[in-house]
Amino acid sequence: MDKRQIDITYLEYGSLGELSAEDRDLAARAIEATRNSYAPYSGFHVGAAVRLDDGTIVTGANQENIAYPSGLCAERTAMFHAAAEYPDTPMQTIAIAAVSGGTLCSEPATPCGACRQVMAEYQTRGGHPISILLVGAEKIWKFSRVDNLLPLIFDSLEK
Ligand code: THU
Repeated sequence: MDKRQIDITYLEYGSLGELSAEDRDLAARAIEATRNSYAPYSGFHVGAAVRLDDGTIVTGANQENIAYPSGLCAERTAMFHAAAEYPDTPMQTIAIAAVSGGTLCSEPATPCGACRQVMAEYQTRGGHPISILLVGAEKIWKFSRVDNLLPLIFDSLEK
């Protein structure tokens, strides 16, 4: 028996000012996108902004429904929006931010499992890593590829 370990490395920033201009811009677009959230049931307003390889930015926000499972997270709204509009342009980075009680959450909001799985598929499809920028008011986390958020990812029907 061998004991194996999976290590996850990510960057933590203390403020938006520490980010590159590109990432700061994307983070701002994710924060702005929280305004388009429709979240009357949870009051948790999530925004996501996807930067494509050609620099195009596509946004999304969580959309809830009275039949709860019919709603969709901000991340998938943004990625499906991007893939539906620009199917041939790979995704480079996705930024995510959440507002609760009218203010940006201090801790970064981390994507649900279903959103991570969807990110994984677009990463494979795009042929290079997608970075994930999780934007909180007091800290910002950056993961350089989706598998860092979803180890042992399901990405093949052949084993
Ligand atoms: N939500 C997102 O949009 N993204 C996440 O990463 C976590 C959760 C949404 C789903 C629902 O509308 C609300 O936040 C509360 O779970």
